[in-house]
Amino acid sequence: MTDEPTMQRLVAAARTARERAHAPYSHFAVGAALLDEQGRIHAGCNIENAAYPQSQCAEASAIAHLVLAGGTRILAAAVVGVADEPVTPCGGCRQRLREFAADGAPIWVADLHTVRAQYTLGQLLPASFGPAHLLRP
Ligand code: THU
Repeated sequence: MTDEPTMQRLVAAARTARERAHAPYSHFAVGAALLDEQGRIHAGCNIENAAYPQSQCAEASAIAHLVLAGGTRILAAAVVGVADEPVTPCGGCRQRLREFAADGAPIWVADLHTVRAQYTLGQLLPASFGPAHLLRP
């Protein structure tokens, strides 16, 4: 599922979503795309707010689309942003992804031209807290 063509589709979807970013305050546009368990791609962009803390990351927007479409798992993710350093998911979004993704899920980090880095979720969020912690013994 997470072969090269799938990765390219995810990155392309994240780039397209990034063009919709509402980022009038930071001027930092981000796009994200998620592969669900049915092989579908769900994308999102960051949506900032004049009340700054109410802003929403691209990953959160993409997760909302996945859940609304009936998706239950994230098999892979792509995040697209333009900066000197590769734009990795923020700490909060690593936890948001963790809700639906396994440690081994690949996360590709790209800009407008290339894929700049690849991680697993477990690399970005080691020893994480997740849904299994809430299961009663
Ligand atoms: N941003 C994301 O959308 N995703 C991330 O993982 C990193 C940060 C957004 C939030 C804010 O709108 C802008 O980038 C600058 O922080």
